[in-house]
Amino acid sequence: MASFNEKMNDAPRLGKIVALINQKGGVGKTTTTVNLAACLALADRKILVLDFDPQGNASSALGIDRQMAASGPTIYNALIGEAKLSETIRPTEVDGLFVSPSNSDLTGAEIELVSAFARESKLRTSIAEVRAQYDYILIDCPPSLGLLTVNALTAADSYLVPLQCEYFALEGLTQLIHTIGLIRQSTNPKLGEEGILLTMYDSKTNLSNQVVDEVRKHFTTQVFTTVIPRNVRLSECSSFGKPIVLYDVNSKGSVAYLSLANEFLARNQVDAFSEMAEQAKSENVVPGLSMPPPYLGELTQEKN
Ligand SMILES: Nc1ncnc2c1ncn2[C@@H]1O[C@H](COP(=O)(O)OP(=O)(O)O)[C@@H](O)[C@H]1O
Ligand SMILES: [Mg+2]
Repeated sequence: MASFNEKMNDAPRLGKIVALINQKGGVGKTTTTVNLAACLALADRKILVLDFDPQGNASSALGIDRQMAASGPTIYNALIGEAKLSETIRPTEVDGLFVSPSNSDLTGAEIELVSAFARESKLRTSIAEVRAQYDYILIDCPPSLGLLTVNALTAADSYLVPLQCEYFALEGLTQLIHTIGLIRQSTNPKLGEEGILLTMYDSKTNLSNQVVDEVRKHFTTQVFTTVIPRNVRLSECSSFGKPIVLYDVNSKGSVAYLSLANEFLARNQVDAFSEMAEQAKSENVVPGLSMPPPYLGELTQEKN
């Protein structure tokens, strides 16, 4: 049987592009991009994270700090046509997980592209080169609905909306849905929907429960069954430049993102983890981890 690494090199791949969007900051876009990406990579998928926020939080959460990002071309250089996207891509600590980093240069792109021809399609054009080399490409968007997010939505096959379980959770969604409608009418008629993900859930507060109920009532099946709990380990791990599965695999946050990856793949009609469990059993390894996978048994259980 082919090993994980041999399988990694098989081409071409699915190349599905998913944009993580919400014009509000601090709702869990970056945390979800990085940790969903790492969990999908553990499930033997080859993943590219595109850091599309000039703050570069996804890059640093994956171990590429500002200095490292500046040592080579970034996604900004690819966007304005100075580099190929492939030249910006760096490996991470997780096997099968790669990142195209950003830094504050990306702020300039929003202005520089204003007068450019086909300015909404710059990212789509850059991604075409590498698309078939990855199973999923996750785009971590900035907290706005400006030209960068429009580029991400124009390039994407689907979008995923992280929604924080807080009082004004639904505020802003109307505007977001309006933007999606405009994109579908213009630059990307095929833009599909991955779903809404409830984040930072606190079971101790009535408010969190009310938000969950309300969002599920409004959006029914569009909402992921998996809910991401508020978990301090999730906020800690990014400052160490590690996804949660490498920082504390048994934490509630880790279990939640593994469950999300499972649900994400199931929604994409791929039962990755049973395949992964079979392979891990026969080889006694999980890519990216040098220890046996303690959580495999838990993946089949429903998590909330
Ligand atoms: N489930 C969670 N539990 C605890 N802290 C979280 C959780 N998700 C995100 N955070 C923290 O909240 C802050 C905002 O999250 P982030 O993912 O950066 O949001 P965004 O990318 O939407 O601005 C960060 O400091 C992050 O570490
Ligand atoms: Mg962010």
